[in-house]
Amino acid sequence: MKKPHIVKGFSKLTRLEKIKWLKVQSGLSEEAMNTLNTHLHLDQNLQDIYGDISENTVSNFFLPLGLAPNFLINDDLLTLPMVIEESSVVAAASHAAKFWALHGGFHSEVKNILKVGQVHFTWKGSRGSLEAAFEPLKEGLLASVAHLTGRMQSRGGGIESLEIRKTSEHLPDAYQLFVNFRTADAMGANFINSVLEALATEFKKAMETALPDSPVEIIMAILSNFTPQCLVSCYLECHPSAFDQFSSEMSGLEFGRKFSRAVDLARHDPYRAVTHNKGILNGIDAVVMATGNDYRAVEACAHAYAASNGSYSSLSSAECTDKRFSFSLEIPLALGTVGGLTSTHPMAATAMEILAKPSSEQLMQIVAAAGLASNFSAVRSLITSGIQKGHMKMHLGNILRQLSASPGEVSLVKKEFSGRLISHAGIENFLLSVRNQSKKS
Ligand code: MEV
Repeated sequence: MKKPHIVKGFSKLTRLEKIKWLKVQSGLSEEAMNTLNTHLHLDQNLQDIYGDISENTVSNFFLPLGLAPNFLINDDLLTLPMVIEESSVVAAASHAAKFWALHGGFHSEVKNILKVGQVHFTWKGSRGSLEAAFEPLKEGLLASVAHLTGRMQSRGGGIESLEIRKTSEHLPDAYQLFVNFRTADAMGANFINSVLEALATEFKKAMETALPDSPVEIIMAILSNFTPQCLVSCYLECHPSAFDQFSSEMSGLEFGRKFSRAVDLARHDPYRAVTHNKGILNGIDAVVMATGNDYRAVEACAHAYAASNGSYSSLSSAECTDKRFSFSLEIPLALGTVGGLTSTHPMAATAMEILAKPSSEQLMQIVAAAGLASNFSAVRSLITSGIQKGHMKMHLGNILRQLSASPGEVSLVKKEFSGRLISHAGIENFLLSVRNQSKKS
């Protein structure tokens, strides 16, 4: 096999040197080079902030920040900042918010806020002797990390519990220190990982003294992104007649029943459940992104939670009787409103201000409402007009841009397709005929 040509010292190159290297390496077009150079912030201080967020930065990748107004959440009227690449998500969330603001709003409640950390280790010996040796060490272990937990404790956080668990019956000798944390308004990943690494070192040392014949081998110390006890619930309810306005073909009650049937499908069919939950995460991720939180952690945890009964299922549920429609969501959300990107990224800090500087628990409630709103709009469309009508209407601008439509052509397309189903092919054909026509004349 030919030895691959590895680039060395890439991170040490300046931004322009990196781009120059890229041009040679991947034959980058002038247009692409220009795009990289024209997407830099004109204010060098701000560009430095964005550039330093990750590594080997050569430009910025813009996504729109949209606003979804009229979110009535626990009697507070909020405008939600949303960052997402998919058209129609912000519009759909806004529609749902407007409807529900007039029907009681979103009722969100935080159930618990525990985060999890694990120190995985191998121990060859009886579980009983391990546990017996561990108990008297516990207090000393907690004291050994007091220099790291003290500040968090003064903010109401810290280590909530510390215990030994057998990791799996399928893995011989695999144990862990299972640690529950409270992290106040921080997401707390750095705090948890620092404490865990210190605990791992102290634990190994203490065990060597307590049981010198069976050494502990530390495998790793890391937080778990599965946080089923960092949980928020959110619900909506109304009389089914509130939906009478939704369709000329069915009554509000019929709509409510069809809606709850549609949600039931996602509770029982994993193929539908994944798409259904994706619709929830459309709203959730958009606010999580806007506020500079970790959407990969949120996604991973949401999907694990959705499968925690043994098969993948819907995160939301709906019920409809003659007199009452209810729709609810329960989801773990490990979010922070201080520290991390929430304060260094100027747009994330602005998003926090748009939300009136929420605590992490308030942000959990807000984000759950965004998820439920997106889910409501998606299922509403699916059981009435289908999603393509609204989606393609919102996507029209993107299609016109892809087809390089002139301002004149844009108005012709809008006139021609008003009230009609929009498709990429339909618009392309229409533009082709308009262009052919103008060539002839
Ligand atoms: C599209 O981004 C999301 C939906 O597919 C969600 C759903 O099917 O419930 C519309």
